[in-house]
Amino acid sequence: MVNSRGYSHSRASSTSKFLPRRPTLYTITVYIILLFVFSIVIFLFYTRDVLEDEQKPLSSEDSQFVQMQDELWNAPSSHGLHPCVKPTSKYKATQRWDRYMTVKSNGGLNQMRTGISDMVAVARIMNATLVIPQLDRRSFWKDSSTFADIFDELHFMTTLQGDVRIVKELPKQLESVPRARKHFTSWSSMGYYQEMTHLWEEYQVIHVAKSDSRLANNDLPIDIQRLRCRALYHALRFSPQIENLGKKLVERLRSRGRRYIALHLRYEKDMLSFTGCTYGLTDAESEELRIMRENTNHWKMKKINATEQRIGGFCPLTPKEIGIFLRALGYLPSTLIYIAAGEIYGGDARLLELKSRFPNLIFKETIATQEELKAFAHHSSQTAALDYIISIESDVFIPSHSGNMARAVEGHRRFLGHRKTITPDRKGLVDIFDKLEAGQLKEGSSLSYLVTQMHKKRQGAPRKRGGSLPGVRGRARFRTEESFYENPYPECICSSKKH
Ligand SMILES: *[C@@H]1O[C@H](CO)[C@@H](O)[C@H](O)[C@H]1NC(C)=O
Ligand SMILES: *[C@@H]1O[C@H](CO)[C@@H](O)[C@H](O)[C@H]1NC(C)=O
Repeated sequence: MVNSRGYSHSRASSTSKFLPRRPTLYTITVYIILLFVFSIVIFLFYTRDVLEDEQKPLSSEDSQFVQMQDELWNAPSSHGLHPCVKPTSKYKATQRWDRYMTVKSNGGLNQMRTGISDMVAVARIMNATLVIPQLDRRSFWKDSSTFADIFDELHFMTTLQGDVRIVKELPKQLESVPRARKHFTSWSSMGYYQEMTHLWEEYQVIHVAKSDSRLANNDLPIDIQRLRCRALYHALRFSPQIENLGKKLVERLRSRGRRYIALHLRYEKDMLSFTGCTYGLTDAESEELRIMRENTNHWKMKKINATEQRIGGFCPLTPKEIGIFLRALGYLPSTLIYIAAGEIYGGDARLLELKSRFPNLIFKETIATQEELKAFAHHSSQTAALDYIISIESDVFIPSHSGNMARAVEGHRRFLGHRKTITPDRKGLVDIFDKLEAGQLKEGSSLSYLVTQMHKKRQGAPRKRGGSLPGVRGRARFRTEESFYENPYPECICSSKKH
């Protein structure tokens, strides 16, 4: 009782004693503390919500999705490899200045580019001064552009001045002297061209009638191989007007979407006619292509079984097939796809089934103004050069068919650091597409699994250039080797720092 009374007294007394002054101090302290605690609680609550929002995609299913999407775009690891094109210490430039080589370069843009790079090497081997090559005006592409219209001529000459002397024209006094006119043998070695130097005993000028595939892919001295790389990747720069527009178009693509695929859709008339691939075409179209093939003298194969071509994997994928392929790989319908190509055979109608899967198809005509493209009209090699630049800079490059452009772009991307190139397994895919058509397979996860597995090792990861196919003998084996410019590893791509 006393205790309780004492207590109540003391409380009462203390209350009565401090009541007039203490409530303010006490309540204010408590209030401040409460407010402080309260705001901390609110703050924590709020930030926890924010964090939860940010982490939402990290539920396991979503994070798997993000990771999968990243994998679709990320380049394979290049394992610290880097370009190496410097000559060795033994290397010397050509010595003789009084012997000249003139060249007529043949084929489309990329066949000419690699051919010219080979001719630089041949001029070096034969101690010749190289005259700026003449370009092909008669190929399917019918382009009247000169070397200087497409390439930076001065840059070409100065970049290679330590290798080969290059002049714009043959000296006047040599224009009328007899020339040794040569069709050099395809895929020739160092020994062949050293032997050819006997021509200098009789001639001061050698004219090379064709520049494509005149030099072997393999078994050449390292300094010759590196010279080919210096010529193609450093010296053969496009003319400033092409380079500038190319860069602008890449910037515009990047501003439309963070990343883009460059699709080399080789579905042009000449390729379909040449390969005899008529799958999905009308009878009238097939007939048109057959007649074109019949009338093109330098195409040797005239009778072609289209079904066998397709089953063998020798046909370009159709736009529809490319659409199914890209969806199966996992690319989203919103993906930005730049179409690097000339005129698609069959026009817009033939693109419908690609466009229905990927509405964001971009053409030169959609990102460049008419004014900008005016200078390029009727110059297919120059527009091909724009495609080349945009393809080199893309996040992913996918060729629908193997060919000179596909090989050149793939090789250049390897050289620049193994940028991602997905090479469709056309033989395997045709098998899958036929199952789809027969109703044995449906578009969806099982198709996606098959296609993804099939292309795991076809993403442009570093590997050494492939040799000839087993069982092929004689000179025919050169034809089956992987092209030097498709994969300049190991000569121009090195791992050690000493290069
Ligand atoms: C090229 O010229 C140099 C210097 O004149 C000479 O040593 C070399 O043997 C020549 N090479 C060929 C293949 O003629
Ligand atoms: C083409 O090849 C396929 C498959 O081998 C065959 O069934 C077809 O009869 C051939 N067509 C012609 C016109 O020879």
